[in-house]
Amino acid sequence: MRILAIGDIMGKAGRQALAHFLPSLRSEFNPDAVLVNGENAAGGFGLTEKIYEQLTSQLGVDCVTMGNHWHDKREFVRFAEQCERIVLPANMMNVNNPAKGVRILRSKSGKNFAVMNVIGKTFMHADNLSPFVHLERMMDLIPQAVKVRILDIHAEATSEKQGVAQHLVGRVSLVYGTHSHVPTADERILGGKTGFITDVGMTGPYDSVIGIRKEAAIKRLMTGEKKNFQPANGDRWLCAVIADIDEDSGSCIKIQRLRLEVPDRPDDGPEEKDD
Ligand SMILES: [Fe+2]
Ligand SMILES: [Fe+2]
Repeated sequence: MRILAIGDIMGKAGRQALAHFLPSLRSEFNPDAVLVNGENAAGGFGLTEKIYEQLTSQLGVDCVTMGNHWHDKREFVRFAEQCERIVLPANMMNVNNPAKGVRILRSKSGKNFAVMNVIGKTFMHADNLSPFVHLERMMDLIPQAVKVRILDIHAEATSEKQGVAQHLVGRVSLVYGTHSHVPTADERILGGKTGFITDVGMTGPYDSVIGIRKEAAIKRLMTGEKKNFQPANGDRWLCAVIADIDEDSGSCIKIQRLRLEVPDRPDDGPEEKDD
């Protein structure tokens, strides 16, 4: 089974990069399932029902994982309850529910797979609960027959992401990091079984400070003042991994990193409105 896992979709630039590249990635790689991290898809902060529908119904994304920004859009909190293809970070204090961090899905090619989402503790909100404890409960919710098991570990610290992945070697097919918005070049197969990358990277504008317009981000770093935090929308990149997983054993056979830029680069346009 081939999985295309795409990193944090950042605002309009990220959505445009996804729409631009997904058709050609589908024809080149023919993935059985496409996963995206959607925590920044709406104006950089959270997700809306409309964008969720665009991702799933229009672009055919199979599963949307989230992160610390999952609740930023108030109306989405209730909507998320009924979304079949949303996976929330199970160990965030305002989720704290293993069942909300696991989805068992069936690909268009008729293959079952499980997607999980947890958040880190290190350098993150002090209320986040232990991903290790939650993951044990989440794994218990996955039927034995479902061998293809995928985890989006949404965390700041490279060490924590690697620690979680090493802890799960042989029990999860693919562990990929999100949240830092910076791709790492360390994709590999741990113990010959578990595909891993510390961070997939952002799908969005890199001429920025992790996706946010440079001027506002620099001002905040210099003065502490958080004002006009808007996603940049000049350059548009897609960052992802492609992983091949043996469906009988659940082991990862191959993992490949992708980083692609939309060729035309418009000037940084006007600030986007949430939509
Ligand atoms: Fe993010
Ligand atoms: Fe995040």
